[in-house]
Amino acid sequence: MARIRKPKPKTKRVPPKKARPRSKLSLQLRAFIRYKTALLLALLFFLSIVVATSFTRGAVAEEGFAERVAATALILLVAFFLAGAFISQFEPRLFDSPPRIFFLGLIAIFLTLLASTVADYFLPLVLVAVLLAIVYNQRFALGMMIFYMVPIGLGATGDYKILAALFAGSVTAIFLSRDVRHRSKLIEVGTLAGFAQFVMLFALTIMELGPRNLYSREVLLPFLWVFVNGLAAGVAITALLPYLERAFNIITNIGLLELSDLNRPLLKHLALEAPGSYNHSLIVGSLAEAAARQIGANDLLARVSAYYHDIGKLNKPQYFVENEGLSPSKHQNLSPAMSSLIITAHTKDGLELGKEYKLPRKILRIIQEHHGSTLVEYFYHQAREKNQDNLQVEESAFRYPGPLPKSKESAIVMLADAVESASRTMKDPSPAHLEQLVHDLILKRLMGGQLNECNLTFRELQQIEISFIKVLAGIYHGRIKYPEQEEK
Ligand SMILES: [Fe+2]
Ligand SMILES: [Fe+2]
Repeated sequence: MARIRKPKPKTKRVPPKKARPRSKLSLQLRAFIRYKTALLLALLFFLSIVVATSFTRGAVAEEGFAERVAATALILLVAFFLAGAFISQFEPRLFDSPPRIFFLGLIAIFLTLLASTVADYFLPLVLVAVLLAIVYNQRFALGMMIFYMVPIGLGATGDYKILAALFAGSVTAIFLSRDVRHRSKLIEVGTLAGFAQFVMLFALTIMELGPRNLYSREVLLPFLWVFVNGLAAGVAITALLPYLERAFNIITNIGLLELSDLNRPLLKHLALEAPGSYNHSLIVGSLAEAAARQIGANDLLARVSAYYHDIGKLNKPQYFVENEGLSPSKHQNLSPAMSSLIITAHTKDGLELGKEYKLPRKILRIIQEHHGSTLVEYFYHQAREKNQDNLQVEESAFRYPGPLPKSKESAIVMLADAVESASRTMKDPSPAHLEQLVHDLILKRLMGGQLNECNLTFRELQQIEISFIKVLAGIYHGRIKYPEQEEK
C-alpha cells in the first residue's frame, strides 16, 4: 500500500462519544430500582440471618428469647449498615449487580448456618477469603471477612478459639493471595493459612489450658482439623475457580495466564490466517505489559488483551497492510469510504468473534475500545484528494465508532498499538527518532480527546512513554546503526 502524504499537522479536538442522554426522571427511576433491589436483598438476608442465629441461642419458650432476638437483630443491623457503607465506598459497582449481592448474602447465610450446625473447624472461611480476594481484591475480601465474622460469631455454638484461629487463617490467606498466577500458588496459600490457623489455635489453647493439659485427643484433634481446613480450601478453590470464572463472567490472573497461551485456537488461527497482525499483537503485548507494570496497572490483562485486540482482522486479513506481504493491495479497486468501512469494522468483528470464543468481558471491552474514535487518516486524506466534485467529505465516516478507552489497561493497549504500527514504518529507528515518534503519538491521542474517559494521570502518561521507548529501543537495537557503521 502506498504511503500517505502527510497531512498538515493539526490538533483537532475530537469530542468523546457520549452515551444517549437520559431524562432526569429515567435516571432517578433507574437508581431507585437499582437500590431497591439491593435493599430488598439486604433485608431478606438480614431477616434470614436473624432467624438463623436466634434459634441457636435457645428455644422460643425459653425466658428472655424475645430480648435475645432483639439484641441479635440490633447487632446485625449495625453490621449490615457498616457492610453497606463499606461496599458503597470501595466496590460501588456491586450495587448494579443484584446477582453478586445475592451471592455475597448467600455466603453469609451459608456460613452462619454452618457455624450453628457443624463443628467450627469445618467452616470454609479460608476458601471464602481466597475466593473474594481473587474475584474482587484483597481490601474487599478483608472487609467482607470482618463483616461475615459477626453473623458467624452470633450463630456459632462451638469454641471461640477455633473461630479466632479461622479468622487469622483467612487474613493470612488474603495477604498471600496477591497476584495469584498459578494454581499451585493456591495450594501454597491454603497450606500456609492452615499453618497460621494451627499456630493461632495452639497459642490460644495454651493460654486457656496451660501447656500441661494439651496431651489429650480432644485437645490435639482440632489442631489437625484447622490445618486440614486451610489445605482443603486451597485444593477446593483450585478446582472451583474455572466454574466461578464462567458463572460470574470474571477473569482472574490464572484465567488470563491460560488465555495468554499462544497455542489457544484463536491465537493459532490468527498466526496462520493473519501472520502480520499476529506478530504485531505480540509486540503490542510486550509494550503494553511493560507500560502497565511501570504504572502499577494490571500488566497481565494489558498483555493478554493486546494478544487478542486485532482478532477482528481475521474476517478479512488481506485488507490490512501488515498481512499484505508481496501481493497487491486489496484496496486498489475500492473507494476510500469502502476501504475505511472494512478497516473500522475490525473492532466490532473482534467483539463478536471474542464473544463466540467466550473471551472475558474485560478483554472484549479492550478489543472494542482499542481505536477509540480515531480517524483512519490514510483513507480520509485519499478521499479528500480524490474528491474532484468538491463535495464535503464527511470526517465521521472515516472514524472508528468508539467507545473511548475506559480503563488504564485499555488506554495502554491503544497507545501501544499506535506506537507499534507507526514504528514499523520508520526508516531510521534511532533512539532519538523513536523518542520523538512515541512522544508525538501519545500527545496526538491526548489532544484528540481519546484519553478523556480513562483515568490515566499526566505522570503515568510520561511513565508509559518512557517504558515504550525502552521496549522499542530493545526491539530495534539490531537495526540501529552505530556511528562507525554509518561511516563505513
Ligand atoms: Fe486494531
Ligand atoms: Fe493493532
